[in-house]
Amino acid sequence: MANKNWILMVTAQTPTNIAVIKYWGKRDETLILPINDSISVTLDPEHLCTTTTVAVSPSFESDKMWLNGKEISLSGGRYQSCLREIRRRANDVEDEEKGISIKKQDWDNLKVHIASFNNFPTAAGLASSAAGFACLVYSLAKLMNVKEEQGKLSAIARQGSGSACRSLFGGFVKWIMGKEANGSDSMAVQLATETHWDDLVIIIAVVSSRQKETSSTSGMRESVETSPLLHYRSKEVVPKRILQMEEAIKTRDFPSFAKLTCTDSNQFHAVCLDTSPPIFYMNDTSHRIISYMEKWNRSQGTPQVAYTFDAGPNAVLIAPNRKVATLLLQRLLFYFPPSADTDLSSFVIGDKSLLKDAGINAMDDVEALTPPPEVQDNIPSQKSKGDVSYFICTRPGKGPVLFADDSQALLHPETGLPK
Ligand code: DP6
Repeated sequence: MANKNWILMVTAQTPTNIAVIKYWGKRDETLILPINDSISVTLDPEHLCTTTTVAVSPSFESDKMWLNGKEISLSGGRYQSCLREIRRRANDVEDEEKGISIKKQDWDNLKVHIASFNNFPTAAGLASSAAGFACLVYSLAKLMNVKEEQGKLSAIARQGSGSACRSLFGGFVKWIMGKEANGSDSMAVQLATETHWDDLVIIIAVVSSRQKETSSTSGMRESVETSPLLHYRSKEVVPKRILQMEEAIKTRDFPSFAKLTCTDSNQFHAVCLDTSPPIFYMNDTSHRIISYMEKWNRSQGTPQVAYTFDAGPNAVLIAPNRKVATLLLQRLLFYFPPSADTDLSSFVIGDKSLLKDAGINAMDDVEALTPPPEVQDNIPSQKSKGDVSYFICTRPGKGPVLFADDSQALLHPETGLPK
């Protein structure tokens, strides 16, 4: 390592995920160990993902990180845990082409630069920390030639943010809470790949909100301390629901999947209300989305759509196939049209082909939508323009990927600084 001018880097992409059986409550705050198992669906990284470049060079003076182009501090305990755990497992790295040879023991003294970018607005309140920590851990592990399998890496990502451990896999993922006090068995496993149930279509309604939300971390701490319902949920309800959800996923049983997803989301928000002082993550728009979806499901006698809400007002809606998804999109655009100054192409983003399938090519088509049959007797009087900021059409997706070359890198190959 005599020459100090080299820079070695790795770029990776990691998806975000939405829990269908929620994680809420820790039994250990530092190690981030949960009080129940949880299950999630990984979302297609084409529409929602984090890209991270990590670089190492003997010329770097300290560990540094940039998020969406802005430098952020790495001094927090969660970043430090992830960096420490990965460094501890680092191995020799040889790059003959570049003439670089790093020995296992060198990693303790070498500093890293990290640049991370979300392809979706961080401010939208979509789980950016899950994809972010998963990508940080995955890319560092590749850079440092960490040989641990994905499950072990998920246990490190977990120490950045609990839900991040589930973003190490694609498709359908379970975070096993584990029993050990040191957290070694609290990790994610893949239940099924993204191709297992690839008919599913997911529409996210990004709900306009003025309210500053309580963070998941402090919200769940308060629930653990004050909500009797949370303890009943984690001991009596979730263990059974996990088994039922695993079965529903295995057999692609949409009615069962939808019932479990909606009930679990509602119970999580009931726990928030049972917390003292109560926490309100959903707002009036979220509640209206639930009522409309419930009305539709009831009118058909079997669930058409599943809904779930995390620690914020945004709705994640899951339809069993494209045909039902077009009916869902028509309903959503009827109930929640864009405000006057918004154009359709920025109001429905992601997989826009769904718009075409729904017969909506222009704003006139949105205005021409007629009330869905289930509300014919009681048509909502006031169409609320702008209550939903935009919709993202997506689907279940794959897990982390490593980019083969540096063309997608976020750091400059000569300076190691953001491009
Ligand atoms: C409501 O993973 O953000 O999204 O572990 O404290 O970082 P920390 O919390 P976080 O909590 C996510 C909570 C949830 C449900 C879920 O994703 O399972």
